[in-house]
Amino acid sequence: MPESYHVDAYKVEGKIDYDQFAKQYGLKPIDPELTKRLEKYTGPLHFLLRRNIVFAHRELDWILNEYEKGNPFYLYTGRGTSKGMHLGHLMPFMLAKWLQDKFGVEIYIQIPDEEKYLAKKDIDMSLDEIHSMAMDNVLDIIALGFKPAKTKIFFDTNYANTMYKNAVRVAKHITFSTVKDAFGFTNESNIGLLFYTAMQAVPAFLKSVEVGHNVPCLIPLAIDQDVHFRVARDVLGKLGYYKPSIIYTKFLPGLDGTSKMSSSEGGNTIYLDDPPEVVKKKVFRALTGQQATAELQKKYGGDPDKCMVCQYYRYFFEPNDKKLEAIFKAERNGTLLAGEHKAALADTINKFLKEHRRKKERAREKLDKFIVSD
Ligand code: TYM
Repeated sequence: MPESYHVDAYKVEGKIDYDQFAKQYGLKPIDPELTKRLEKYTGPLHFLLRRNIVFAHRELDWILNEYEKGNPFYLYTGRGTSKGMHLGHLMPFMLAKWLQDKFGVEIYIQIPDEEKYLAKKDIDMSLDEIHSMAMDNVLDIIALGFKPAKTKIFFDTNYANTMYKNAVRVAKHITFSTVKDAFGFTNESNIGLLFYTAMQAVPAFLKSVEVGHNVPCLIPLAIDQDVHFRVARDVLGKLGYYKPSIIYTKFLPGLDGTSKMSSSEGGNTIYLDDPPEVVKKKVFRALTGQQATAELQKKYGGDPDKCMVCQYYRYFFEPNDKKLEAIFKAERNGTLLAGEHKAALADTINKFLKEHRRKKERAREKLDKFIVSD
């Protein structure tokens, strides 16, 4: 990875070059031929795909080949709790929910409630506290509309009988030198985290274990999680399972224009439980890249690619391409001034969060239908 940025599961820094990342790790672009094949089954594409925010894949073409042969896939994704979820965390889940609806397939959702406990040195929560917070995250996930009959959600700590047995089979094939290279572990890294990647591999072949024959698996995620599966894919091949296919989203940027909205950058991150005044305050500090004064802005206009308000519409809040283009145009020709632009976005985000919280409350009643334990 070039010095200018770094991406792995435990550290994301600098300005990410997505093309470079894809090239370095052998991800394939989602090209028009592939989107055409997808569209055959899904109808009009999700805006994340149309806008190249879902930008790369590993063997999505193979998943479609198998699907066409009558060998459907299941989906797998996850959430490693440390705090409440933010908007960026929802993106791979939104994509997963869309894929579940369009292909009518099952999804496995792993909640590794030990991962961040092991990964974050300064975490001040006990395992039990993380578990309760993870339960709250699950409500956020269910609120997106996953189908109970086709969705299995499990926590590492109380699905341990199933998870651990299979993780051990994976762990036997992963050497210290492999995880050291892949994750940058050092002599100071704790052994729990060295093992953890084996736990994240399990749901990628768990369905095959359960049914006794190989079932293709498709994993939606953002690029920080790729490192786990670069390690796991080789091992699963050795164990006689299919290697999972992956579909990658770019990161929702931070409000200040940094590459990734992140839990550790609270001021530039919109959490799903942020109250309306907090959202407004954060959005008003967002980077817009507009000219220094309203006069200059009217005269020269701004650059939507650098304006985070525009980008939040593109990544999340304006699914309609025509309406998005109108916002971008107004930004370019200077008719949209920073104050009103930000006020409108804050309003849109608050409406979204209000509706999300309503669905989250309703999710509480359905919780039992989703969670499996052993
Ligand atoms: P976690 O909890 O850090 O993140 C959950 C999911 O959100 C993605 N993500 C983002 N996507 C868009 N914009 C952002 N700013 C952003 N920040 C995070 C992550 O890539 C992830 O897909 N180890 C995992 C949990 C996990 C998992 C999995 C994830 C277990 N099994 C299988 C994906 C697939 C974690 O801590 O994710």
